[in-house]
Amino acid sequence: MSSPDPAGLLALALAAAREAARLVVDERPDGRLDVAATKSTATDIVTEMDRRSEELVVARILADRPDDGFLGEEGASREGTSGVTWVIDPIDGTVNYLYEIPSYAVSVAARVGDEVVAGAVVNPASGETWTATRGGGAFLDGRPVRVNASPGLAMALVATGFGYAAERRARQAEILRVVLPQVRDVRRAGAASLDLCALACGRIDAYYEQGLKPWDLAAGGLVAAEAGALVGGLRGRPAGEALVVAAPPGLFEELADLLTELDADRVVG
Ligand code: IPD
Repeated sequence: MSSPDPAGLLALALAAAREAARLVVDERPDGRLDVAATKSTATDIVTEMDRRSEELVVARILADRPDDGFLGEEGASREGTSGVTWVIDPIDGTVNYLYEIPSYAVSVAARVGDEVVAGAVVNPASGETWTATRGGGAFLDGRPVRVNASPGLAMALVATGFGYAAERRARQAEILRVVLPQVRDVRRAGAASLDLCALACGRIDAYYEQGLKPWDLAAGGLVAAEAGALVGGLRGRPAGEALVVAAPPGLFEELADLLTELDADRVVG
């Protein structure tokens, strides 16, 4: 079987992500979701939009490539026979979406075997779109992007995120307590894919987080790597649920050393 062309896969990822991005904005129920008074209702609406976004992406891709597989946050799961698997986060940053903080994304990536070869991340609120193909570079709205050169750990603006389980959060807070005094400052923007894209275009210097699922990491991880970041785990391990560290060479090692001392890839919660 010949390997599919990454540019063709990217075009499809982008088209599907853009359509889903439009859906989550246009079809969001009118008015502010009453977060406090109707917590479960608000959550249901988000879940419903998540589900509809994922269904749209899957249908859009299947129409062009009926033999592909899927792995999606909302449960899309299908083996496929073509060797291509699409990894989808239909709304990354769901809590931001719930609160109308304009920092959430639709993330669509194409994986061939274990390797992500194309990815698109669309922020529906700002319209910003990041794309990458393996070996083909990373782009923001069609313009090439590059990570910042390492400013050194002490001058680095470092983004991170927290899981949903209380026990994991407590451990993440302990790690952050040690990291924070050793860096320029810390950001928690609330959407892992956008953190990785922010790294890619120099809006932050580094990112780390425990607990990312494949759909949080796939497209944004490729964008960051193609923009010049090292994206990995600790002790030479690949990036994964135990830990994702992403930063330019030099800073990656400094941050990874600190996180290794803190045993930050010990899975908790
Ligand atoms: C979450 C966001 C958040 C990160 C969490 C993710 P979701 O994804 O990316 O920034 O800290 O680890 O689970 O649940 O909004 O799709």
